[in-house]
Amino acid sequence: MSDTPEIKKGLAGVTVDHTAVSKVNVDTNSLLYRGYPVQELAAMRSFEEVVYLLWYGELPTAEQLAQFQRIERSHRTLDPAIARVIDQLVGTAHPMDIVRTAVSMLGASDPTAWDSEPHAILDKALALFAQLPGIVAYIQRCERGLGAIAPRDDLGYAANFLWMTFGEEPHPVAREAFDVSMTLYAEHSFNASTFTARVVTSTLSDYYSAVVAAIGALKGPLHGGANEAVMRTFEEIGDASRVTGWLDEALGAKRKIMGFGHRVYKRGDSRVPTMHAALDTLIAHYGRPDIADLYDRLEAEFVARKGIYPNLDYPSGPAYHLIGFDTAIFTPIFVASRVAGWTAHIQEQLASNALIRPLSAYNGPAERHIEGYVADE
Ligand code: SDX
Repeated sequence: MSDTPEIKKGLAGVTVDHTAVSKVNVDTNSLLYRGYPVQELAAMRSFEEVVYLLWYGELPTAEQLAQFQRIERSHRTLDPAIARVIDQLVGTAHPMDIVRTAVSMLGASDPTAWDSEPHAILDKALALFAQLPGIVAYIQRCERGLGAIAPRDDLGYAANFLWMTFGEEPHPVAREAFDVSMTLYAEHSFNASTFTARVVTSTLSDYYSAVVAAIGALKGPLHGGANEAVMRTFEEIGDASRVTGWLDEALGAKRKIMGFGHRVYKRGDSRVPTMHAALDTLIAHYGRPDIADLYDRLEAEFVARKGIYPNLDYPSGPAYHLIGFDTAIFTPIFVASRVAGWTAHIQEQLASNALIRPLSAYNGPAERHIEGYVADE
């Protein structure tokens, strides 16, 4: 083994395993979920069908979808014990910490948490997937001093998420844009939170521990926390006329501009055009050309100055704001979507049965000894 091994900081550019879940192609700037272009799935299939595809490898037949939806709907009601935890934490903890705690509690109260048989993982995943909208919705409603809204079985996943959050049936424009965002956020190969879930799974720990760890990774502003940070950037700038001055100051202070850049994509994020189109429908519906102006001006100026392109979080932040979500709720929404991808990778990692444990190159003090120590003969 070489004394001076090549270090790949952040595993940048390192291929560590195969995956059949999704393909991120930098050369063609494309993303496939189980072989299907994500743009086609977003346009032609519901988010629930996409989740089924990620977990089972094929799009569901009508019967398979009906069965999947029946079970999902049977788990939508917010667990009273979880509601009590949310009541205690709202107002002091960040919504991502509350979601992480809620999932941890679900795991701690599941007597079969350790069961890692494929069907058991999918049963837990579908129940958790069904409960997340109620958890996230109740956090926002609690923040506003409002009570929980009971789920509606006659609404699809995205529509019920909005119903439980706002207490009214969503307008088709909001429902469709939200459904598209959930499909686009669902999966993205070995991103930091998904790889975290795989590392935890590789030790044969339980499903909930892998998801809780992934939530912790997703919270960071360099990863999932960026969609919340994008909206805070918009609020900080105010309007398009202030972009130049704001960028001068931000770049002068070496700040990272949230919603821009990507470790893998270097000529734009394949998902952005689809989410930008969805954002445009919301801007037209809610009559907010000011958001379009700010969005376009910041993108044009930053790309011109740094040659760094928007990622999915850039259009998603203002979209969630227009739909009516509180800014701190944006990343918890990402959790409800990405749990689909995490689950597919947890299944795959379990099947590969390979402990993830990379090497390190030591660069600390040379060997030295404790005075007076005498080794046993
Ligand atoms: C997601 O991996 C995934 O697939 C993630 C994700 C998914 O679906 O799971 O796509 C979701 O996490 C998207 C990314 C969301 N994060 C942000 O928007 C935060 C802002 N972005 C940056 O922090 C950055 O672009 C990263 C972390 C996303 C990627 O950074 P890299 O590839 O590690 O590149 P880098 O940080 O080494 O930057 C290279 C250069 C640096 O300049 P120098 O130090 O060499 O002079 O580009 C600069 C960086 O400072 N740069 C930025 C920048 N992004 C890169 N400068 C200002 N603002 C930025 N946004």
